[in-house]
Amino acid sequence: LDVQKEIHCGIINLDELHIAAKLLQQGELVAFPTETVYGLGANAKNAQAILNIFKAKKRPLSDPLIVHVHDKNNLYTDKPDYVDQFAELFWPGPFTIVLKSTQLETTEILSAGTGSIGIRIPNNEIALELLKLANIPIAAPSANLFTHISPTSAAHVFNDFYDQRVHIIDAGRCDNGIESTVIKPLGNELHILRLGSLAKDTILNKINQSESLKHFAIKYENKYMQIEENEEDIEKELQDLQHLDRKSSMEAPGQFLKHYSARINSFILTFKSINAFQEIDINLKETVIIDFGSELRNRIANFDETKYKTLSLNYDAKEAMFNLYDLLRWAEIQQGAQQILLYDFDTEINHQILHHENILSLQDKIFRSASGQKIYYQ
Ligand code: TXA
Ligand code: MG
Repeated sequence: LDVQKEIHCGIINLDELHIAAKLLQQGELVAFPTETVYGLGANAKNAQAILNIFKAKKRPLSDPLIVHVHDKNNLYTDKPDYVDQFAELFWPGPFTIVLKSTQLETTEILSAGTGSIGIRIPNNEIALELLKLANIPIAAPSANLFTHISPTSAAHVFNDFYDQRVHIIDAGRCDNGIESTVIKPLGNELHILRLGSLAKDTILNKINQSESLKHFAIKYENKYMQIEENEEDIEKELQDLQHLDRKSSMEAPGQFLKHYSARINSFILTFKSINAFQEIDINLKETVIIDFGSELRNRIANFDETKYKTLSLNYDAKEAMFNLYDLLRWAEIQQGAQQILLYDFDTEINHQILHHENILSLQDKIFRSASGQKIYYQ
């Protein structure tokens, strides 16, 4: 069964959004579009519904959820003065701020035991309308199975959850294509916990221009954690609310090295010099290539054209973000494909040709989707 063909493209009207809002209020799981990726939504006030998100995704309880709201005056958290300034600059948008949770009884499970929750107002009309109609905070991780590629279309969500009780609102492709940027204020520092579609340099420029925010220094440190639990442990941990057995990795929740991963082995192909060209020591008939511009095309001989795509022919980082997860999902279902080769955004060559603010986020997503595996090559 080719599940991708089974899904139909619905027209969304207000009646349907009313139904979706009702379902959320009743504790059902509803996948909905945002400007970043599709979210797997549940009523953030309902502990059982939240647990069902973790179960559906097979996600360990140590990985906290983002809560989506539509009103910056009702965040369910502590609200230091500067929050209004951030809201002014970045909301609605791909900006998630981690604050101390004060009003949700479900904080323990939402926050993975940290007491703080990530909050954002998404910049997508359907998501905002849904939040207004439901009139509850909606917890939503990306609507993909744990470690799999994040979904940027309803078909992607369907492919991961077709055999589970998940309702899906189909509103076409997501505008940005990668997740929100997650930040946590700590004293005078803003720690970026996850890179995303709002670039670090954009945040920096905006806060530097703001009288009340310019005292913040931005900190970003790559964290690549190994997943410690195996699938059986995760399943045991998720059995029911009475037996929540949390092993929180407080230091960097959710920052796993294996993330956004296709179901076949993926490698970053990295060149040591700009003129490198050589036959690669793997079977190119069984290899899918995901390029940027024509960099790999120009250097690899005898690959299979039908298994080749580029993130952006014109070196446009925004277009590359828009296409990345869609192409990774395309790659993993190519017939006979044994591995994916990914373009390396992290070479000196690239620092000469790429100055786009979104490169850092792209590099991070690609590094994780290859679980950090690189093939070096003279
Ligand atoms: O763009 C997005 O953020 C999407 C859409 C649906 O809004 N959501 C999303 O959620 O990507 P998720 O669960 O796939 O990723 C959220 C990540 C967590 O893995 C964790 O790294 C970080 O955000 N995070 C969330 N809440 C946190 C908290 N309380 N403390 C630290 N990190 C947190
Ligand atoms: Mg996710």
